[in-house]
Amino acid sequence: MSSTSCEEEAIKRQTSDASSFATNQRTTNKCGKESKEQKKVKKMNIFIEILFLIRDIFVAFVESWWRFFIPPNSKSVKGEIVLITGSANGIGRALAVEFAKLGSIVVLWDIDGKQNQITADMIKEVGGVAYTYYCDVSQRKQIYEVGARVKKDVGDVTILVNNAGVVIGSGFMNCPDDEVLNSFNVNVLSYFWTVKYFLPKMIENNHGHIVNMSSSLGLTGLNKLTDYCSTKFAVNGFHEVLTYELKHDKHNGVKTTLICPQCVDTDLFKGCRIRYPSLCPFMDVDYVVQKSIKAILTDQYIICLPRLVYFQAAIKSILPTDCWIEICTFLGTMTFMDSFIGNKKKCKC
Ligand SMILES: NC(=O)c1ccc[n+]([C@@H]2O[C@H](COP(=O)([O-])OP(=O)(O)OC[C@H]3O[C@@H](n4cnc5c(N)ncnc54)[C@H](O)[C@@H]3O)[C@@H](O)[C@H]2O)c1
Repeated sequence: MSSTSCEEEAIKRQTSDASSFATNQRTTNKCGKESKEQKKVKKMNIFIEILFLIRDIFVAFVESWWRFFIPPNSKSVKGEIVLITGSANGIGRALAVEFAKLGSIVVLWDIDGKQNQITADMIKEVGGVAYTYYCDVSQRKQIYEVGARVKKDVGDVTILVNNAGVVIGSGFMNCPDDEVLNSFNVNVLSYFWTVKYFLPKMIENNHGHIVNMSSSLGLTGLNKLTDYCSTKFAVNGFHEVLTYELKHDKHNGVKTTLICPQCVDTDLFKGCRIRYPSLCPFMDVDYVVQKSIKAILTDQYIICLPRLVYFQAAIKSILPTDCWIEICTFLGTMTFMDSFIGNKKKCKC
């Protein structure tokens, strides 16, 4: 290329750059104006959204209070297929019998075959239908295998009650590794696997209920229960996020209930004592089950038993930690586990 043509080319480029700059400038100005307008509209939109939010909060608040004083009608669970893990003893057994009385078909999962059969017999005595399965819920693959058998033998589970639970009952340094793993497998990971297996059909049919058994110890900790409390805190997180996801994805036909009882008179915490038992008496299994069933039938998101548990959780979260520890020490909850006998058949590891 000659020097003249190069200069011509450069001039052309400059002219085109200048004109495109001018165009850009015009567009920017135009854009600037538009973006100001857009900003205004955005501000307006946020303002309207906040107004709607205040309205929705108000409505939700009134609804909750309304539900508190005038509980909604109970739904029917007749004909529902209810699967309960840890059904051979304690709360699981009593829940199974209660569901059977209400006309549900009950599927019983436990590692204690003998006691599980007794639960099935109790169900037959009240005219109910029960299917028993050996299922070690600490084994993910077994959950899926036995789940498939249930689908084939009984049908799609519509109410899943994650209830099986274990506790080591020793100070942190004395918890054997295998037992810690077992606590996490039974008390929380099994909840993941059962829900993963049975939830898709519930979503497909927009009909179902997932009940997660937690504890007051999923809200406030206690000495010598590092394994148990951490699994129960995890269950609360699991339940919360699962519920949020179901609501966000508009699967409104699938309900969830979290049960957080304090001390219940079963073998799990056998031998444990508190300084002032009248402040925290061991609750009767039937009382806990009646209240839990009522919460399930009215699609309640959470139930704490006794109601004092809500108060304890609130107090713990606002008080400085040392104050809370002083209160626990005074009440004797720090030494609650010292006389623990428990359920010695809890861990097969
Ligand atoms: N008892 C209480 O004070 C109390 C308080 C709050 C919450 N809870 C919770 O209630 C639930 C039931 O407790 P419970 O008091 O009836 O206890 P429990 O010991 O009477 O019954 C637990 C059942 O789980 C079964 N189980 C244990 N490991 C299993 C496994 N790997 N696979 C299948 N089944 C297994 C046991 O065989 C037993 O039948 C638990 O989740 C527990 O954490 C109990």
